[in-house]
Amino acid sequence: MKLFVSLLALVFMVALAAPMVMGQDETMTLNAAGEGNNERPLVVFNHGTHAETFDCANCHHEYDDKFNKTGSEGGNCADCHEPQATAENSIPINLAYHLQCKSCHVRFIEMDKKSGPVMCGDCHVRKK
Ligand code: HEC
Ligand code: HEC
Ligand code: HEC
Ligand code: HEC
Repeated sequence: MKLFVSLLALVFMVALAAPMVMGQDETMTLNAAGEGNNERPLVVFNHGTHAETFDCANCHHEYDDKFNKTGSEGGNCADCHEPQATAENSIPINLAYHLQCKSCHVRFIEMDKKSGPVMCGDCHVRKK
């Protein structure tokens, strides 16, 4: 019973913490290649502002057994996208990022709306 109560408390704490984690200026440093293997400076991504503007399913997906795209709760892209294309997933991790990030920014530029970067150095920002 005691264990059950503390489990409940834990679940409750996690539920409370989630909105904090996803707060507006929550930035993430994305790293596709892993430590020591990067050609370009790592990309700093503001998850908070993006997640406020867009549905989670714009970026997070799973596929059902008929290969229909379904939304997801979020998670790491590298769980499914490998460094190289595989039989299960033809989109390597770098391409997954470039396709998703850039194509949306291009779309917004084409609509004459405020958008994000499309040039290498504006995402892979060199520290001064
Ligand atoms: C514009 C794209 C985009 C949107 C919109 C978005 N996310 Fe994400 N999210 C990402 C990326 C990119 C990562 C980093 C994944 C990685 O590190 O592999 C991420 C990571 C996460 C993680 C893992 C956090 C961690 O620390 O590893 C969770 C959970 C998550 N997102 C939930 C959500 C939820 C819930 C929403 C909607 C309210 C949302 N995301 C909206 C792109 C997005
Ligand atoms: C649960 C597994 C899974 C996760 C997690 C996942 N993907 Fe995917 N993704 C797939 C599969 C499967 C495909 C289809 C691959 C194929 O066609 O061979 C795909 C396709 C894609 C595509 C090409 C089709 C499209 O929707 O434009 C992009 C881009 C992409 N993923 C980006 C991402 C990004 C960025 C993340 C992290 C925010 C992510 N994926 C997380 C499984 C996943
Ligand atoms: C669904 C569309 C969409 C996707 C996917 C997306 N972005 Fe954006 N991004 C935008 C829009 C729109 C803006 C402009 C928002 C604003 O400033 O009002 C933006 C702004 C930015 C900015 C500049 C402002 C800031 O928040 O720092 C950066 C950097 C950026 N995005 C990086 C990324 C990266 C990296 C990814 C992929 C992990 C990504 N974006 C995916 C739509 C998108
Ligand atoms: C919209 C943002 C965006 C733009 C524009 C962009 N990238 Fe990326 N790129 C990413 C993200 C996100 C990753 C995964 C995070 C990481 O590893 O830095 C990535 C990963 C990479 C990687 C693998 C990791 C590494 O550093 O070795 C290379 C190489 C790369 N990009 C090169 C380029 C080049 C070259 C251009 C211009 C033609 C470019 N990128 C433009 C977002 C972007």
